[in-house]
Amino acid sequence: MKHVNDSNGARNEPTGRKAFVILKNQGKTRSPDSFRRSYIRDEIAKYGKREISSQYFTYEELSAATKNFSYNFLIGEGGFGRVYKGHIANKNTDIAVKKLDRNGYQGNREFLVEVLLLSLLHHTNLVNLLGYCSDGEQRILVYKYMSNGSLEDHLFNWRVGELKPLEWDIRIKIATGAARGLEYLHKKADPPVIYRDLKASNILLDEEWNPRLSDFGLAKLAPTGEQTHITTKVMGTYGYCAPEYALTGRLTRKSDVYSFGVVFLEIITGRRVIECSGPSEEQNLIAWAAPLFKDRRKFHLMADTSLEGRYPMKGLYQALAVTAMCLQEDASKRPVMSQVVSALEYLTSGQNEEQPMGDGDSSSEE
Ligand SMILES: Nc1ncnc2c1ncn2[C@@H]1O[C@H](COP(=O)(O)OP(=O)(O)OP(=O)(O)O)[C@@H](O)[C@H]1O
Ligand SMILES: [Mg+2]
Repeated sequence: MKHVNDSNGARNEPTGRKAFVILKNQGKTRSPDSFRRSYIRDEIAKYGKREISSQYFTYEELSAATKNFSYNFLIGEGGFGRVYKGHIANKNTDIAVKKLDRNGYQGNREFLVEVLLLSLLHHTNLVNLLGYCSDGEQRILVYKYMSNGSLEDHLFNWRVGELKPLEWDIRIKIATGAARGLEYLHKKADPPVIYRDLKASNILLDEEWNPRLSDFGLAKLAPTGEQTHITTKVMGTYGYCAPEYALTGRLTRKSDVYSFGVVFLEIITGRRVIECSGPSEEQNLIAWAAPLFKDRRKFHLMADTSLEGRYPMKGLYQALAVTAMCLQEDASKRPVMSQVVSALEYLTSGQNEEQPMGDGDSSSEE
């Protein structure tokens, strides 16, 4: 597998986590808060035909909701900055508050893209942006709180967090929901979007294990009409990037399909795509799985050992077949997301026939 190109400043971390390009600040001249707020609203209005659903929060409101951004309310930290749990008393709502770290790798531009896109996109498998704050130098995003945190924690950190390993049915439910989220972005969203940052830490889970995709700061509007791809700086996270995108910067919806294949393989195996510890032949999940994919008799070796055999053999075969299709080197042979969704819905429907999944159907989702 090719690594993310770092010629544009991307940070290639061996852990398979954050590998982001450093974004330059958009505006060099400072403008008054009111101007910034109306700028964001104007940008949304330019692209969207609908009402803006996200609300404006003041810094004081968010400070009160998180007890002054107290360490006790810290629930995570990523490339954008720290994430706090908060509570809005007058609405009796739990929120997640993501505060931009001015010294961090991500920045203003991602903040704006996130607010713009999440104000326009609405689907049960996309995170709910409740609002934002751009008081002074502050850049803060406010989401609905997802009580089960990220898929990453439940797949790889469950021993540390004293969690239980996920059962097979929950794993398939999460994969299906994530696939539906991508299908919506690729095909049904207006404008259609390439997500570009699918990974386990960006799949958040509610109390019933419904998944929602989060972090749209790297997303791009999908090519339309005659266009087959868009050319862009290579950004994303090491290990999850499609090989052709990492090599050429040519981005298509099929890049997301590849990343979905990586995440689905992580879900099935309980192994990180890049793992620094352990024997060298097991450090790259895709390379480790390649010989096993060639022999159906070895498929059971790919199932997460923490499942202790609690999975249907046929279901495992079918899930691995979907994964293998998504991970094909030749992007044109990968399925489109609606085919992946159909295959996964079939898998959960309990039917037992083989699921046909045609190679790269050139539908409008292409
Ligand atoms: N809406 C939310 N509800 C509950 N927890 C959340 C929410 N949003 C983020 N988190 C928690 O905060 C953590 C950090 O999220 P964040 O997106 O900032 O970083 P990341 O995904 O780990 O890394 P990256 O910056 O590469 O995306 C998540 O892993 C999750 O545990
Ligand atoms: Mg994230």
